[in-house]
Amino acid sequence: MPFAHITGWGMSVPEPVLTNDDLSKMVDTNDQWIRERTGIRERHIARENQFPSTLGAEAALKALEVANVQPTDVDLIICATSSPEHIFPATACLIQDLIGADKAGAFDLSAACSGFIYALNMAAQSIRSGSIKTALVIGTETLSRFVNWKDRNTCILFGDGAGAFVLQASERPGGVLSAVMRSDGSGGDLLSIPAGGSRHPATEAAIHAGSQYIHMDGREVFRFATRVMASSTKEALDAAGLTVDQIQHIVPHQANIRIIEAAARGLKLPMDKFVVNLERYGNTSTASIPIATAEAVTSGRIKPGDKLVMVGFGGGLTWGALAAEWTGPLPSERKVKPQKGSALRRARSFLRRVLRFIDGLLSPREL
Ligand code: ACO
Repeated sequence: MPFAHITGWGMSVPEPVLTNDDLSKMVDTNDQWIRERTGIRERHIARENQFPSTLGAEAALKALEVANVQPTDVDLIICATSSPEHIFPATACLIQDLIGADKAGAFDLSAACSGFIYALNMAAQSIRSGSIKTALVIGTETLSRFVNWKDRNTCILFGDGAGAFVLQASERPGGVLSAVMRSDGSGGDLLSIPAGGSRHPATEAAIHAGSQYIHMDGREVFRFATRVMASSTKEALDAAGLTVDQIQHIVPHQANIRIIEAAARGLKLPMDKFVVNLERYGNTSTASIPIATAEAVTSGRIKPGDKLVMVGFGGGLTWGALAAEWTGPLPSERKVKPQKGSALRRARSFLRRVLRFIDGLLSPREL
């Protein structure tokens, strides 16, 4: 049975930064309250022409470059997102087109902020089963478009960005070691975007009531999160046959420093085992774990052979954890440059549309 190794990583965040002081001019809040209650200092907010697909494609191309893999070698793209561009088409398909992954299946996975853990596990299991060899897992968000910028309970928390991993099959032991995925739909109302789906379409009345924005019971979500972060980390470690002492890093979902500190207490681990960067990005939902991991690998903190647990929670309610041994790029003779050639990819996408149009004109209409 092949092993599923994480061989590439990449991230992309929009340039514009929104600081706590900026927010204090928009709602009744202040830098000190936000830093003390959440740990967040600033977050990045997408420009008008940036979307989950464009940020996700940038992160994906960087991850492919690190893994030394061509987009056309990818068999499967799973995009975890809490801010999909449409109900359909899937954001994963938009990314597939942007990066020219012509042989890949592509779908979105909706599990709120736990989505990246779920997606990573699904991709790893597809590789472990032998049905695919190479997968791209992306977490990408422009949640700023679902934030009510007049609601101080939520608008201080979220930021935009994307992160991506490449997973590849190899007979060498290692890579993804175990995962747990859990849910409790009875808590669905604690964290939701009530309107915009088929139950409450985005009607004028729904928009007037602000139901298209994130609604959250912060205290309840906080209590739930502190409960599940340590327990699911332990479950993933048990399933991998590891103890907490055998892992070098924990990469938690970056929602609130107090939630991470509670997890550290629950696991009896020092905070320096936790990769934390939420002060600069806020909560980027599905993107937070791959962004934190990409930064830690790039800075040399996470190294090949290190064992780590990624752990997250989110709306649904959902939560999950995944244990892995860090691999890095597989040895290869060739050197590919997936980040180059974006003009060619755009031209190829355009050509496909033209060919589809011509085919439509030439094909006899079936009655
Ligand atoms: N600035 C100043 N004061 C504020 C602010 C603010 N931005 N927001 C709330 N307050 C006030 C409240 O009104 C309240 O005042 P009161 O005592 O007079 O009523 C007081 O501060 C305390 O409010 P709490 O809600 O109890 O504050 P808490 O310490 O719980 O912090 C927070 C709130 C930061 C939202 C916290 O509950 C939290 O992080 N919860 C988890 C949220 C989370 O992780 N969500 C994402 C999940 S992932 C996903 O799926 C998207």
